[in-house]
Amino acid sequence: MEDIRQRPRRNRQSAVVRALFRETSLTVDHLIYPLFLESKPLLKTEISSMPGIYRWGEEVLLKEIEKCVALGIRAFVLFPAVPDELKDSSASYSWDKNNFYLKAIRRIKQHFPEVWLVSDVAMDPYSSDGHDGWVEDGKIINDKTLPVLGQMAVAQADAGIDMIGPSDMMDGRVGYLRTVLDRAGFQQTGILSYTAKYASAFYGPFRDALDSAPKSGDKKTYQMDYANRKEAIRELRLDEQEGADMVMVKPAWSYLDVISEVKAHSTLPVAAYNVSGEYAMIKAAAANGWIDGTQAMEEMLVSIRRAGADVILTYFAPEYASLIQNRSKYI
Ligand code: PBG
Repeated sequence: MEDIRQRPRRNRQSAVVRALFRETSLTVDHLIYPLFLESKPLLKTEISSMPGIYRWGEEVLLKEIEKCVALGIRAFVLFPAVPDELKDSSASYSWDKNNFYLKAIRRIKQHFPEVWLVSDVAMDPYSSDGHDGWVEDGKIINDKTLPVLGQMAVAQADAGIDMIGPSDMMDGRVGYLRTVLDRAGFQQTGILSYTAKYASAFYGPFRDALDSAPKSGDKKTYQMDYANRKEAIRELRLDEQEGADMVMVKPAWSYLDVISEVKAHSTLPVAAYNVSGEYAMIKAAAANGWIDGTQAMEEMLVSIRRAGADVILTYFAPEYASLIQNRSKYI
């Protein structure tokens, strides 16, 4: 017998003691579920690179939200899949009166007034160029983008969105949108800023879902270089000064260090976006029998929270919610 004073294994010897000492908890209260909206009300189409994730028409969407609410999920972020013929270079459909996305927001709020709805503010879903900003001669023009985002945000606030989500990475847009919303009387509409959004290969399946890939070039002149961490803090300081209500790191899994850094430097709630490619990788490996998809999902989500995320945007939300709902004890 060795003389070992410190035996960390004592605290791991049963499920009960492990549950007692578990440092990180993850409940449905921490989750926001991203939903893709389809223009045809009755259509439901599965996204091939994201098994289990669909584009929902307005009618079928309401039923899906009802199911999610029954699972305890009460926060959603909405993305529109806009038909090509409605796209143009100024993203004008984003504030069109007949916009199906704005109509859907109104209907969801009528049926489920208690849910928390977050929007997407960026030009790419509506833009014939497939970029988040205004394109001229192949360049993304920051200050011409801001008024477009402003009109889009006011239209969404008017439809009843609780929090707008600028995902575009233009400079100064949080402050600009705060001013525009306030002047239009939407002081209570929050801003979830995509603070540190990196130019990432992990957005691939999302661009399939919305058919929103850039028609030319890439997004590296506005989204961040994934080699950078200090730059995230610079963006954080600006977003705080400009009036963000929640800040976000995106993607999540390859950016756990950035999440902890942002958490350590801010008193605002911190979100992390567990993006489409992170979801797709687990689904693909599990479908091949290479990993246990359920366990890998939980490990991934808990690690994002352990890194410091208060809130996680994840396509796994319903799957995780049913997992914990059906579980009687910790494993
Ligand atoms: C674009 C936007 C993207 C995502 C959310 N908003 C893609 C991009 O920047 O090209 C990605 C989300 C995901 O991959 O799950 N405004």
